[in-house]
Amino acid sequence: MKFIAFNVRQDEQPYFESWEQQNQIEVKTVSGSLTNSSLKQVDGYDGVLALQTGKYPAEMFKDFKKYGVKVLSIRNVGTDNVDLAAAEANGVLVTNVPAYSPNAIAEFSVTQLLQLLRNTTVFRQKVAEQDFRWAPYVGKELRNLTVGVIGTGRIGRAAINIYRGFGAKVIAYDLYPNAQLQKEGIYVASYDDLFAQADVVTLHMPATAADHHLLNAQAFAKMKKGVYLINTARGTLVDSQALLAALKSGKVAGAALDTYEGESSLFNHDLRGQQIKDPVFNELMRQPNVLVTPHIAFYTTTAVENMVLISLNSAKSVCKTGTAETIVKIH
Ligand code: COI
Repeated sequence: MKFIAFNVRQDEQPYFESWEQQNQIEVKTVSGSLTNSSLKQVDGYDGVLALQTGKYPAEMFKDFKKYGVKVLSIRNVGTDNVDLAAAEANGVLVTNVPAYSPNAIAEFSVTQLLQLLRNTTVFRQKVAEQDFRWAPYVGKELRNLTVGVIGTGRIGRAAINIYRGFGAKVIAYDLYPNAQLQKEGIYVASYDDLFAQADVVTLHMPATAADHHLLNAQAFAKMKKGVYLINTARGTLVDSQALLAALKSGKVAGAALDTYEGESSLFNHDLRGQQIKDPVFNELMRQPNVLVTPHIAFYTTTAVENMVLISLNSAKSVCKTGTAETIVKIH
């Protein structure tokens, strides 16, 4: 049994090495992504590990079959970019890491919201210019706000706990409600109800075709004036152009975007000195009340260690037993 891992960063390397030593299973690590041109490298490997926001298309799985790959273990949770039907058709099992650290993402969402509420970006800029005046950038306190959590899986629930700790009123919506939260009466009946009541809308749901641009012009129109948006989930959930318009009109008071539709050619790349040819992204970046971060909500030592070790254990389990607890099923 031997594995090949793509997109391996230096902060992951020690975890790969210690797993390899402990398990006595060869793991070749490469820093590049899994693409059509790098695909030949998987020849002869039983398992492929990868972590990327780009696509894992149908043709990739045909090649996996040709090269004898049994399992694709992705080191993250979301599988919206994986053609699971093609994987199944080619006899390749796909595993993910459903819970590497829900708190990593939840804590980051709250961090970003607090920054928006206290205008820290504006003050950082002003202080850099030696403008030490306060007005008119008065902040807001979380305990006075209603936070609308969309998606109450592990990450959403971790976020709810943190928001409750701050004394915020928390409401939620999920197509598949959590039994405990339901007992607590946290759920509203519809997206529209959440939009009407929330001072903050925070996304913690996976991306599906049905939810593409869930937050579009119509959705923003239904929200309270001065709402804050936090997206650490998936870029495709938000119509970026509609968000920009809502920010400009003052409907949205601030947005924290850790994900962005079209991020795969931007985030985790060094584009210093290059012109980005996405006018909407460029304009969002220029807004003082928009915090763009390059998909780093997950990025903590706890999460990184779990992502590496759990994905390797999954690949090993598939190769030894034909299955793993973390197999991703087609819904
Ligand atoms: C995920 O786990 O799905 C993430 O969004 C993290 C990212 C590194 C792909």
